[in-house]
Amino acid sequence: MGVNVAVVGVTGAVGTEMLRVLERRNFPVDEIRPLASSRSAGKNITFHGKEIQIQTLTTDSFEGINIGLFSAGGKISREFVPYAIEKNCVVVDNTSAFRMDDDVPLVVPEVNADKIAEHKGIIANPNCSTIQLVQVLKPIHAVAKIKRVVISTYQAVSGAGLKALDELKKETEHVLSNDGEYNRNVFPHQIAFNVLPQIPQSDAFLSNGYTEEEMKMINETKKNSGRQIFTYNHNHRKGTSI
Ligand SMILES: NC(=O)c1ccc[n+]([C@@H]2O[C@H](COP(=O)([O-])OP(=O)(O)OC[C@H]3O[C@@H](n4cnc5c(N)ncnc54)[C@H](OP(=O)(O)O)[C@@H]3O)[C@@H](O)[C@H]2O)c1
Repeated sequence: MGVNVAVVGVTGAVGTEMLRVLERRNFPVDEIRPLASSRSAGKNITFHGKEIQIQTLTTDSFEGINIGLFSAGGKISREFVPYAIEKNCVVVDNTSAFRMDDDVPLVVPEVNADKIAEHKGIIANPNCSTIQLVQVLKPIHAVAKIKRVVISTYQAVSGAGLKALDELKKETEHVLSNDGEYNRNVFPHQIAFNVLPQIPQSDAFLSNGYTEEEMKMINETKKNSGRQIFTYNHNHRKGTSI
């Protein structure tokens, strides 16, 4: 017997990949409910070879749904997750909306799958860099207690969504054709053939000199480890040291 799964943000870079992973793993799905904004109304997604119409996300979207995979940004999660829970839908939230809430388990299955049982309707996953980091730290920590970690991360443009990917493609073509100034909308500076020390839109510099993304790695790793086993050093400006 399968379950009914809603994917919120199904047209996005992450939502599209969620569908592919559900297919690839043969996740036992009875009904898949693709949800996005009204901009996507009328469009279709393909799931296991079948075309399914995308529905506009509303407060009534979760009737009969067992699992809701949310990946449409923190604002959307904060607004719509309560309606999903009201319908007994278990939410797996990929945004930063609930990650640091005390009663929400922050789970990377390879590291702390046992925490899933503690959920009260929401299971959060950390940001992408933290997920990869803690999987590497866990086995090292098991054999040799880690006191301090110094990290430099280089996040892919895809982490900033489909609009960012499109900008990278167009700007790359533009730079290669040596065609004057490029009018960019997503990144504040040239991203083609470049690395920027800030993630657009979602990232901000904080009063301690770190960016929000850097602090997410520090805080989410500590929450993930269950106790504050790592220390971090504010003097390290080149990367995130936790
Ligand atoms: N944990 C991780 O590893 C990781 C990695 C990358 C991103 N993320 C997070 O995942 C989320 C999505 O990222 P993304 O890269 O997939 O972004 P994206 O490519 O820009 O896609 C955004 C998705 O959200 C939908 N959406 C926007 N406004 C909506 C609304 N009012 N109602 C319903 N759906 C709405 C969009 O639908 P339309 O097409 O209809 O506009 C689209 O499906 C973000 O919160 C991001 O921080 C997490």
